[in-house]
Amino acid sequence: MAETNGLTAGNVALVTGASSGIGEAVAEMLVDRGCKTICAARRVGRLQALQERLGENCHPIELDVTDTASVNSLLQRLPQELRAIDILINNAGHDIGGRQRFDRGDAANMASVIETNVIGLVRVTHAVVHGMLERGRGDIVNIGSVNGIEVGPEAANYSASKFAVHGLSRGLRADYKGSGIRVIEILPGLTKTGFAEARWSGDKARAEDFYGAFPSVMEPMDVARSVLFALEQPAHVTIAELVVTMSG
Ligand SMILES: NC(=O)c1ccc[n+]([C@@H]2O[C@H](COP(=O)([O-])OP(=O)(O)OC[C@H]3O[C@@H](n4cnc5c(N)ncnc54)[C@H](OP(=O)(O)O)[C@@H]3O)[C@@H](O)[C@H]2O)c1
Repeated sequence: MAETNGLTAGNVALVTGASSGIGEAVAEMLVDRGCKTICAARRVGRLQALQERLGENCHPIELDVTDTASVNSLLQRLPQELRAIDILINNAGHDIGGRQRFDRGDAANMASVIETNVIGLVRVTHAVVHGMLERGRGDIVNIGSVNGIEVGPEAANYSASKFAVHGLSRGLRADYKGSGIRVIEILPGLTKTGFAEARWSGDKARAEDFYGAFPSVMEPMDVARSVLFALEQPAHVTIAELVVTMSG
């Protein structure tokens, strides 16, 4: 069998939530590998700064995955040469108001977590997958979480969102078996990103204290390397699920 690398310079990639953390690191690695990388998020200023750092293969675009119109217009808002997306990185997510016992959380925040982490992922995937099916190839990488396979206290709603990502990933893999589309789920453990600060409404000190309690916490690049590892496999190999955690 001819070995074709699953990742090729010139591929078009779309990274949701590229303005921070894991998404930003994945975007950086994809640009480094010569991919035309669409970097999508709500904070456009941060995406523009990323483009200044990464250069012309970084293409910033405003995207709110909770907004149907924003997602549905995404492809039309891209230049023609970026509409055939080879690689979709479904990364956008948050846990605003989380990490507390279920009854102490705010129900609107919980709904927002589900709306972003689950429905947002569904929306973006649905918008992109038709083109992949027409072309008979594509990679969908879903950033799940260890919370999508293990449950602990003070994480019921976030875990529910990531269990949904886990189920969706398996369902998509079943649907697209033999279609040329690979569905890859990366399940990271604790990673030092903007996630904790977002969870606690911009409380930087609390976020620093939290990550500081875990000396071997992963960096975004640790997770990005796993994404790259999966994408770089030959086209006939699918890294279906990859759990990546800190060693300590
Ligand atoms: N950090 C961890 O320990 C950890 C562990 C396992 C899994 N994860 C998962 O990794 C993913 C990335 O999180 P992170 O840790 O890198 O956190 P982060 O630094 O806070 O990044 C989250 C990203 O999601 C984007 N985002 C949030 N809501 C969005 C929306 N409605 N539309 C578009 N983009 C949106 C944010 O961009 P804007 O605010 O600019 O829109 C930001 O770029 C998430 O799915 C998270 O659940 C994280």
